[in-house]
Amino acid sequence: MKVIILGAGGRGNVYAKYFSENGVEIAGLADPNTERLHKVANSNGIPEASLYHSWEEVLEKPKFADAVVNATTDHLHYKSTMKAIERGYHILIEKPISPSENECIEMVEAAERKNLIFAVCHVLRYAPFFEKIKELVENGAVGDILNFQLTENVGYWHFAHSFVRGVFRNEKVSSPMILAKSCHDLDIISYIMNKKCVSVMSDGGLTHFVHANKPEGAPTHCLDGCPHEKSCPYFAPKLYLTQITDVSWPTTAVTTDTSFAGRYAALQTGQYGRCVYQCDNDVADHQSAVFTMEDGSTASFNLIALSSETTRILRIYGTKGDIQGHLDRNQILLSDFNSKKIIDVKYDTVSSLVSGHGGGDARLVEDFIDAVKGDTRSMKTSGRLSLQSHRMAFAAEKSRKTGQRISL
Ligand SMILES: NC(=O)c1ccc[n+]([C@@H]2O[C@H](COP(=O)([O-])OP(=O)(O)OC[C@H]3O[C@@H](n4cnc5c(N)ncnc54)[C@H](O)[C@@H]3O)[C@@H](O)[C@H]2O)c1
Repeated sequence: MKVIILGAGGRGNVYAKYFSENGVEIAGLADPNTERLHKVANSNGIPEASLYHSWEEVLEKPKFADAVVNATTDHLHYKSTMKAIERGYHILIEKPISPSENECIEMVEAAERKNLIFAVCHVLRYAPFFEKIKELVENGAVGDILNFQLTENVGYWHFAHSFVRGVFRNEKVSSPMILAKSCHDLDIISYIMNKKCVSVMSDGGLTHFVHANKPEGAPTHCLDGCPHEKSCPYFAPKLYLTQITDVSWPTTAVTTDTSFAGRYAALQTGQYGRCVYQCDNDVADHQSAVFTMEDGSTASFNLIALSSETTRILRIYGTKGDIQGHLDRNQILLSDFNSKKIIDVKYDTVSSLVSGHGGGDARLVEDFIDAVKGDTRSMKTSGRLSLQSHRMAFAAEKSRKTGQRISL
């Protein structure tokens, strides 16, 4: 099997590693950022002849691999994927499918017309934590679900990194927060409840990481002598030079030269060295939404930037019992109304929750490989299945902006 990977950024790097580890040839890798391109190529033994400077360049060529992995940024997904489908490649596409609802539908339908696999990187479906909860619900452990509460604690430093200073900070270059970050969560709600969503109400916005909250005398870059360096939790040198010493993600987003000197230089003038109260960010730092399902049951979702933990916390209330879950603590508690017992549910746990999505990344790649080779039995995601969760996100964003309940 051969794949072409579009984008050698954070996610492209992850997929290059997992495909290589599974013996799949990376026949093409495309990225205009030559430093990233060569770094990913060198780590995975991809020869110079297989490197391209854009998705346009590699997809210009007649089909020469089995599948395309689209790990470019959200706004590039549509054109590049439509071209790949036209060429006849199976698709593994990063979420969100696209920041435009119509484009999502067009891509899914185009792949279906050509009978191509169109898998979406909803990696949480593969995380053992969510797999176990899905299994409990399907086996009737809590009866019929009346309400599903899911909270995404993004984590103060993670939010500042990705959604204030980083690539997902602004809707023009990325997507609204509920789509960019939380389409995973809405997908999990949709997947586990397994019901059709009929309407949504949502509120929230950007209130903390705004210019009005700039502390007195703070320069635009932290290294330019910020008087608040001791008290500010977002002081960039503290985050990237002291606190985060790992040279994988998120350090690799800051610079390709991850040495101390390289990181220091990147913070002096680069985007990750900026004061979090003086960036060009516009995505919401908190959002709440209530989704109503076809049978009247509801799901409530909260996203919050300002949390000490980076995790997901949930509670599922059913007619026979309830489930409490904490992703980061690897904990699932099942309460049964009849027996009045609280059961600590055991399941396989995998560490590295932030970068590996609890083991989901690796397992998604394995299933995609099987699917391309003809065995689609274990494939848990598809464009068609992801359309509902994407539509829930589009509707929630519309509701947040208009103050109206939106019907799907
Ligand atoms: N599944 C997940 O949990 C998850 C996590 C993070 C990001 N994502 C999604 O993955 C995608 C990529 O995110 P990322 O964090 O890797 O971003 P990134 O910015 O690190 O990587 C994107 C890469 O695309 C490259 N690119 C730009 N123009 C290109 C072109 N014409 N041809 C080829 N490459 C081009 C950029 O140079 C960059 O290196 C986004 O859609 C994002 O929303 C998914």
